[in-house]
Amino acid sequence: MAQHKAIRDYIRTIVDFPHEGILFRDVTTLFADPRGFRMAVDQMLHPYAGLRIDKVVGLEARGFILGGAVAHQLGTGFVPIRKKGKLPGATISQAYTLEYGEAIVELHDDAIQPGETILLVDDLLATGGTAEAGIKLIERLGGQIIGCAFVVDLPDLGGRKRLEAMGMDVHVLCE
Ligand code: PRP
Ligand code: ADE
Repeated sequence: MAQHKAIRDYIRTIVDFPHEGILFRDVTTLFADPRGFRMAVDQMLHPYAGLRIDKVVGLEARGFILGGAVAHQLGTGFVPIRKKGKLPGATISQAYTLEYGEAIVELHDDAIQPGETILLVDDLLATGGTAEAGIKLIERLGGQIIGCAFVVDLPDLGGRKRLEAMGMDVHVLCE
């Protein structure tokens, strides 16, 4: 009997990218496969399907690919959090560090209304620095985060514990 592949089987590892010593978990191979991509999107939104979600917020860049599909499926709007200097309107910003660097992310200051319910989406949770920056931006606008969904968690880097310590519901598809 044919064995169906699990989500993790579609993800490849690139050694020493973007720096020596980093094992980069590359989800482009998951996205490129029709069954893998559909499974990932369906499993990400599954815990939230019956809840009132006003907007899906995606973190640049792979959070846009997943977040757009999740928003379409849930029938919500989609809002991007982008790296500094990319959004055209008035923004709020937040600095952060991640596994292999530091950066600043931004959110349009009118993209979320106070009290709106939000699902935050990204491909991967490592240190949690990127997601924490996103959470801070959403909460500064008064958004109420219902959950944070990721395809991959790297548990050794502590991101999940970090977000849970902030009171977040964290949903991951594989480690
Ligand atoms: C990766 C990944 C997450 C982040 C996770 O993005 O897609 O957004 O790192 O790391 P952390 O939990 O340690 O913060 P990256 O910064 O490489 O940006 P990109 O998607 O724009 O390439
Ligand atoms: N973001 C932070 N660490 C990562 C890793 N090891 N693989 C892919 N994306 C990442």
